[in-house]
Amino acid sequence: MSRPVGLVLGIESSCDEMAAAVVCDGREILASRVHGQADLHRPYGGVVPELASRDHTRAVCAVVEEALAEAGVTAEKIDAVAVTAGPGLVGSLLVGLSFGKALAYQLGRPVVGVHHLEGHLASAELVAPDLAPPYVGLVVSGGHTGLYQIAAEGSPVLLGETRDDAVGEAFDKVARLLGLPYPGGPSVSRAAERGDEAAVDLPRPLAGRAGFDFSYSGLKTAVALAVERRGSLSDADVADLAACFEAAAVAPLVERSRRAVADRGVRALAVVGGVAANQRLRREMVEAAEHDGFRVVFPPPALCTDNAAMIAAAGSRILARGGSHGLDLNSFSRVPVGAAPWARRAPG
Ligand code: KG4
Ligand code: ZN
Repeated sequence: MSRPVGLVLGIESSCDEMAAAVVCDGREILASRVHGQADLHRPYGGVVPELASRDHTRAVCAVVEEALAEAGVTAEKIDAVAVTAGPGLVGSLLVGLSFGKALAYQLGRPVVGVHHLEGHLASAELVAPDLAPPYVGLVVSGGHTGLYQIAAEGSPVLLGETRDDAVGEAFDKVARLLGLPYPGGPSVSRAAERGDEAAVDLPRPLAGRAGFDFSYSGLKTAVALAVERRGSLSDADVADLAACFEAAAVAPLVERSRRAVADRGVRALAVVGGVAANQRLRREMVEAAEHDGFRVVFPPPALCTDNAAMIAAAGSRILARGGSHGLDLNSFSRVPVGAAPWARRAPG
């Protein structure tokens, strides 16, 4: 980083988590607080956007205050505010964004808008300071599944992404099909531990194809058909289907990642996003990395799922290059990495 940025308050509210964190010089996490909404959305089996944004408005002040208290600083000591500007649920994003802009204005400090996926990617270097570009980043979350080339300069470059559902979305939909509780990823994973992964033959979409794209909708449909064929599901059926799905979902992530590392001629891979908390993915990726001789970095589970420390870290990089955004900073539901409209105002 070219100039010290000091204490950055990060705010993340792109989906169903309201998070605030304080990070020093883009490297040291002084505080990281996350207010989740799982109980609120559980009866519906998925995130209800209107409920999410209303809960964010109730939570935002307390979560920011808790983060400042945990860091042992008052708001006046904050040097800048970094806030997720997109992609995500617009109503949810707007709560964090409006709060962040108002606080920055009141304090007379700069505000920077951060791309949510660039935040996830920044989580790897936050926990592994010796991880230096070039490397490949795999983003696996509820909304995204993609492989990126990370270089020392410029935004991450997309190598391949899902053509339909994200892998986390597939975990969430399969959980619903199997009658497992929300949030789906961890509950499918827990059920899979008791299952036989050879019980059902599930498709491996795009297996053996060139390129780095993914596809998860066919796999989800295959699970739906297997459920339909059985009529009613015993506990053993649920465990078997969960295990077969998890194995089929993880395999392409490992296969494409190791091919991307070889193709790009790099020596390291960072796996980030909510699904990076998955134990099977961690195990299989570590085995592949040991076999092929590259380094793999997984943030700890609390930094894989949505959090604000990653947003503060990514925002710190923008600030270190002399960048900041105006109070006209807006939120965007869909926006590709490297093409954020708000970033045009930031030099570097
Ligand atoms: O990154 P994240 O917190 O939010 C988004 O940006 O989407 O990712 C959430 C996703 C959800 O789909 C959730 O089911 C999944 O990550 N997830 C998991 C696990 N923990 C969370 N998927 C599989 N195994 C897990 N242990
Ligand atoms: Zn995320």
